[in-house]
Amino acid sequence: MRLRDPREFRENLPVTRKYVYLNHAAVSPTPLPSLFEAYRYLYEVANRGSIAVNEEEEDELYHIRSKIANLIGAYPDEISLIPNTSYGVNLVAHGLEWKRDDNIVTDNLEFPTVVYPFLKLAKKGVKVNVVKTNPYNFEEDIISNINKNTRLVAISHVSFNTGLKVDVRKIVKAARENDALVLLDIIQSAGAVRINVEELGVDFAIAGGYKWLMSPQGSGFIYVKRGLIEDPPFYGWKTSADYLDFNPNKFTLEKGPRRFEIGTVDIAANLSLAKSCEIISENMELIESSVTYLSQFAIRLAKDHNMEVITPEEKRAGIVVVKVKKPKEVAKELLREDIVVSPRGEGIRISTHFYNTEEEVQKTIEKILEIERKLN
Ligand SMILES: Cc1ncc(COP(=O)(O)O)c(C=O)c1O
Repeated sequence: MRLRDPREFRENLPVTRKYVYLNHAAVSPTPLPSLFEAYRYLYEVANRGSIAVNEEEEDELYHIRSKIANLIGAYPDEISLIPNTSYGVNLVAHGLEWKRDDNIVTDNLEFPTVVYPFLKLAKKGVKVNVVKTNPYNFEEDIISNINKNTRLVAISHVSFNTGLKVDVRKIVKAARENDALVLLDIIQSAGAVRINVEELGVDFAIAGGYKWLMSPQGSGFIYVKRGLIEDPPFYGWKTSADYLDFNPNKFTLEKGPRRFEIGTVDIAANLSLAKSCEIISENMELIESSVTYLSQFAIRLAKDHNMEVITPEEKRAGIVVVKVKKPKEVAKELLREDIVVSPRGEGIRISTHFYNTEEEVQKTIEKILEIERKLN
């Protein structure tokens, strides 16, 4: 599906008929072509049970892996399907081998799931350094905390609560100089802006599918660079190379990406994800330019109205956070007007995807100003 104009895509999104939907950093509506992929499969299972399942799984789900891999510049055998981002971070936390006094560098702007899994490593003497930072000195603050004991740097590509798009390559360079690995949470960037994991140089990249990738909850993936975590932290029947022998007395560790998929995968959700990845890949340039145009439009408009913008204008993707006095009340009032955004931290998070319009952004900013005047 090649789009000439981002707005053409609105006919695939019933949400646009009623709502000004600017909440893709929370949950995206699933576009109809992706929804139909899941529906087609579930309908087949309803009619033909295991026959349909076996057909879909025949190629070891490489038809799904390859579409995800294509979107992020990875090889299909580096993509494993996982139920959510948190699971992926845990795979890394418990899949790497740690030594006492190893440290992990992360920061106080992260979504909790980038930090919490590592706290469980305290028992092994591993230290978690949650660097206090801000969207303006982020890279410098992270880099100055990397040292010879740093085993892993765990950060998000785009910050969920400030909208900062991190200069990942700078951080990867400093990590490499100290023999540290880099984990990148890409749930707030994949689908909104171009990503190439090889160019970025990261070792692990993880995303659930339900935000900018416009796919159902339960879909998601982890990219693990070839050669890393060959022995996964958890074993299940699908971790075995000969899993279809169903022999509890024989276990040969699987080498491919199935090694992280301990049991049955949510095929329907991930078929949707593969379809969304296909659509996004075909239109990546148009999508990225529309996403970054709309986020800049929102920032400029907010600034023109003397609003304080938390997101750095020069380092953004699709998230824009504008400061308001009572974020939760403002978001509630906006919903009454069928405008969907999220309150985050000290502000309102506006997250426009490529199919949104300038008019929708303008209406939202004007309503925020009106509500602020009423509430304060
Ligand atoms: C940066 C980031 N990581 C992860 C998540 C969600 O994690 P999960 O996919 O495990 O629900 C969010 C959700 O808002 C997020 O913003």
